[in-house]
Amino acid sequence: MPDPTSAAGRLRARRRPRRQAAVGGPITTGDSGRIGAGVGLKQPHVEHALASRDSTLWFEVHTENYMVAGGPRLAQLRKIREVFPVSLHGVGGSLGGPATPDPRHLSAVRRLVDEFEPVLVSEHAVWSSANGIWFADLLPLPRTGDALRQLVEGVDRYQEAIGRHILIENPTNYLPFVSEMDEPAFLNEVALRTGCGLLLDVNNVYLSARNCGLDPEWYVRSLPADRIEEIHIAGFEADENLGESLLIDTHAAPVSEAVWNLLDVALAHFGPRPVLLERDGKLPPFETLMEERRLAAAALSRHRTSSERAIA
Ligand SMILES: [Fe+2]
Repeated sequence: MPDPTSAAGRLRARRRPRRQAAVGGPITTGDSGRIGAGVGLKQPHVEHALASRDSTLWFEVHTENYMVAGGPRLAQLRKIREVFPVSLHGVGGSLGGPATPDPRHLSAVRRLVDEFEPVLVSEHAVWSSANGIWFADLLPLPRTGDALRQLVEGVDRYQEAIGRHILIENPTNYLPFVSEMDEPAFLNEVALRTGCGLLLDVNNVYLSARNCGLDPEWYVRSLPADRIEEIHIAGFEADENLGESLLIDTHAAPVSEAVWNLLDVALAHFGPRPVLLERDGKLPPFETLMEERRLAAAALSRHRTSSERAIA
């Protein structure tokens, strides 16, 4: 039970069920314990998704893709939301950047949260803008005390602006930083100070480990289990010039065997969590994505206790 006297506790306490789903039982705002394996929703798949009869399916969308005043894109998301749980995953908050998050951006996120009542809201532990310039990448932070304070400020402002608790996702690292703390400790400290949860992207962990010479299983086991509220899986590609010595987080390939294995390690360590398959490039047919998602559902099933299986 969150402490209602703290800012983080008030944010967590605001999460409550407010809408019934047409399929798949009640959708509860912030109740991630009721969802299993989902996929990132891309526009070419919307009609296929609406035709799906899978009551255990849920979708994640990039928040910024829906920051529009109206039109077909929002109308499609409304149709999806009538049937399936939806989560909002921000890619433009720049929460660890040198400037505090743009109030207009936060207001736009708030409008989407209020309308769609997402089951989860997430962002990244990165920066992507400075001095009015926006970069197309999710840039990792040096893990210093100053960067920690900046990210905590960004998460606090984001949560206050949208009126609820968010998750922040671990970045992909391509070079090791000279830092004052390791990444699991850094993320845990942000969670402790803000009350946010963590979105563990096991593909990002694998790439950071391969690119920077870390042990991915050490990374996963160093994170606080009670903060992990969602897990991402995705595919990567080798750099076209440097090959296997630099792995790029493209989300344009099937999930690798190494990342499936790391997902198993994470689920064994944390227990079942919502697992989301991300695919942003070289988009396969919807049914191919659903087959890959079934592997994630099977992984979740392997790590459910017998009593949890009985409930499901
Ligand atoms: Fe991710």
